[in-house]
Amino acid sequence: MLQHLYTGVLIFIAALAVFTFYGTMKQVNPYGRYARPTDRNTMTARPAWLLFESPQWWSFAVTFWLTAQSPGTPAIVLFALWQSHYLYRGIIYPLRRNEDGKRFPMSGVIFGVLFNGLNGFVNGYAVSHAPHLMTDAWFRDPRFGLGLAIAVAGWLINFQADSILIGLRSDGAPGYRIPRGGAFEYVSAANYFGEIVLWCGWAVMSWTAAGALFAIFTISNLLPRALSHHRWYRENFADYPSTRRALIPWIL
Ligand SMILES: NC(=O)c1ccc[n+]([C@@H]2O[C@H](COP(=O)([O-])OP(=O)(O)OC[C@H]3O[C@@H](n4cnc5c(N)ncnc54)[C@H](OP(=O)(O)O)[C@@H]3O)[C@@H](O)[C@H]2O)c1
Repeated sequence: MLQHLYTGVLIFIAALAVFTFYGTMKQVNPYGRYARPTDRNTMTARPAWLLFESPQWWSFAVTFWLTAQSPGTPAIVLFALWQSHYLYRGIIYPLRRNEDGKRFPMSGVIFGVLFNGLNGFVNGYAVSHAPHLMTDAWFRDPRFGLGLAIAVAGWLINFQADSILIGLRSDGAPGYRIPRGGAFEYVSAANYFGEIVLWCGWAVMSWTAAGALFAIFTISNLLPRALSHHRWYRENFADYPSTRRALIPWIL
């Protein structure tokens, strides 16, 4: 029964990835610099972030502990890594963001709660049931070490980029400046670049369909927004660094 649900949700998320990619290529999600002042169905941005990110940790945790038969140490390590990231992304990061007066569209909150709940479920289920994650032999498999190294590198790039962006408004002045330092020297959306590398690493180290699908969904969601950010910087800053790419250093 749960196995069928898992498969059905994977198919649904794959469809959502396609829908999200085409939808956000046509129209960028209206939050942050693209927020529409005329939007009536919005809520305060900070609680919105806390709300829609939260299913990633509770849905994963509930699924993992309620459905796991006898999870192996690799599964428990992956559980701990996921929860550590979402302690940052779901709680610490929303509290650090400069959100004075910012609103977030309710449609985005509803979509976020739905997607993150389903994604927490499939990843929690996959990690607690994958046979290769039941024994310590997985720690000696090159996919674990390689995936972990990629994920840590991505996390550090993302964390540094998040911090640089937060620092741009440390003087309390609103508005936008040109981000500098770290991976911003190479791309306009350094935070998204780190995020994508992180979830590609997760896909390799967990070696599950759910992990691979989350990496694909992250690309389908963040690539169009990175292209919009890049265009926006070039239109709004005459001195924007000309060698900087949108999302992938030297390539895109
Ligand atoms: N896994 C996923 O699919 C996924 C999806 C979405 C987000 N995320 C992650 O969540 C984090 C936030 O995403 P986001 O879409 O909000 O990123 P964003 O559009 O780059 O904005 C991040 C924060 O920095 C501020 N900011 C951005 N550029 C700035 C500039 N040039 N000058 C001053 N402040 C600036 C934004 O303020 P404003 O709000 O005023 O623009 C916002 O508070 C990222 O690390 C991202 O990777 C992950």
